[in-house]
Amino acid sequence: MTEAILLVGGKGTRLRPLTARTPKPMVPAAGVPFLTHQLARARAAGVEHIVLATSYLAEVFEPYFGDGSSLGLSLEYVTERDPLGTGGAIRNVASRLDSGPDDPVLIFNGDILTGLDIRALVRTHASSGADVSLHLTRVEDPRAFGLVPTDANGRVTAFLEKPQTPEEIVTDQINAGAYVFRRSVIDSIPEGRPVSVERETFPDLLAAGAHLQGMVDSTYWLDLGTPQAFVRGSADLVLGRAPSPAVPGQCGERLILPTATVAPDAKLTGGTVIGPSARIGEGARIAGSAILDGAIVEPGAVITNSLIGAGARVGERAVLSDTVVGDGAVVGADNELRQGVRVWCDAVLPAGAVRFSSDV
Ligand code: GDD
Ligand code: MG
Repeated sequence: MTEAILLVGGKGTRLRPLTARTPKPMVPAAGVPFLTHQLARARAAGVEHIVLATSYLAEVFEPYFGDGSSLGLSLEYVTERDPLGTGGAIRNVASRLDSGPDDPVLIFNGDILTGLDIRALVRTHASSGADVSLHLTRVEDPRAFGLVPTDANGRVTAFLEKPQTPEEIVTDQINAGAYVFRRSVIDSIPEGRPVSVERETFPDLLAAGAHLQGMVDSTYWLDLGTPQAFVRGSADLVLGRAPSPAVPGQCGERLILPTATVAPDAKLTGGTVIGPSARIGEGARIAGSAILDGAIVEPGAVITNSLIGAGARVGERAVLSDTVVGDGAVVGADNELRQGVRVWCDAVLPAGAVRFSSDV
C-alpha cells in the first residue's frame, strides 16, 4: 500500500491573520481543519500511513489528529526545528517510511483542495516508469506557481518556479502540489540543510537526466494560500463542488454545525458554514462565508465571501465583503469593510469607524 508525506510546515504568511495562531492546514474549512479533507481523501484512495512534516506551530497537529485511527490512518509527526524547505522536509522524514527503494511514495502540499484521482497518479507513475510523477493543472495566470512544460509524451522538460520574466512563461501548466516519488529519489535529497524541491531538486533531477512525468488533470483544483482562495475553497466544499469525504454534514447552500445557533430569519447561502457554538442574529445575511467557532454575528449584519475568526464579533448592520476578521476581533456596528480588508486578531473597531462608501 502506498504511503504518503504531507508538507504542512509553511508559515502561511499570505493568509495572515488567519495563520497568526493557527497553522494553515488547521484553519477550519467547511467546519473541520482543512487538513482533515486531505487526510480523508488520501485514505479514500487507499493510503494508510501518512507522515506529517511539520514546522510552524507544529505542536497543534498531534493533539488534534492523534495516531490517526479515527480517520482509519496511521499518522506520524516529524518536526523541523528550523524550517528545511519543501525538499528538506521530505528528506527529513525519510527514516519513517516503510517503502522499499523502488516503491512509490506520495507527497502532497498541505494547502491544496483538489478532486485529483490519486490512484490514477500512482498508476501513471508505475506505467511510465518515472522517477518522479507530478500532478499538473492549467491556470490562467501561472506566475504564482511552478511552471512545468512537458513534451508530447507528458515527460517534463523544465521546472520554472515562480517565473520572474515574461520569457519564462512558456506554458500554462503548473505544478499542482501532488507528487509520486520513487523512494530512492527521496533518499538522494541532501540531508540536514534547507532544500527547495521546486528550485533545487526538480531542476537538478532534470539536469541529471532523470525521468519526471507530468499528469495533466483538469479536475477541481485550488491553492488555499490567500484569504480569498481559502474562503472560496470552504464554500466549494460546503456546496459539494470540491469533493471531500470529511464534510461534517450534507452538502448544500449552508452547513450549520450542531452547537451553532442561527436566528430563524437569517439568510445563509452560497456554501456558508457556521462553526460550532457560533451565533447568528436576526435578519443577518451571509453568503459564501465561513463563520468560525464561537463567533457572533449580530442582527442585520451582511457578510459576503468573508471569514470571521474564532470568537470574533461582527456588530449590527455591519457590511463585510471579501474581508477577513481575525480570531477574537470586534467589528463594531455599522462598519463597512470591503475588498481584502484584514482585521487583526483581537483588534477592536468602534461602531461606525470605517466606511467604504460615502452613503449612510
Ligand atoms: N515541513 C515544511 N517545512 N513544510 C513546508 C516548508 C518547510 O520549510 N515550506 C513550505 N512547506 C509546505 C507548506 O506548508 C505547503 O503545504 C507546501 O509546503 C507548499 O508551500 P507553499 O508556501 O504553499 O508554496 P506555494 O503555494 O508558494 O508553491 C507551491 O505550491 C504550488 C501549488 O499550489 C510550489 O510547490 C509550486 O511549485 C506549486 O505550483
Ligand atoms: Mg501554497
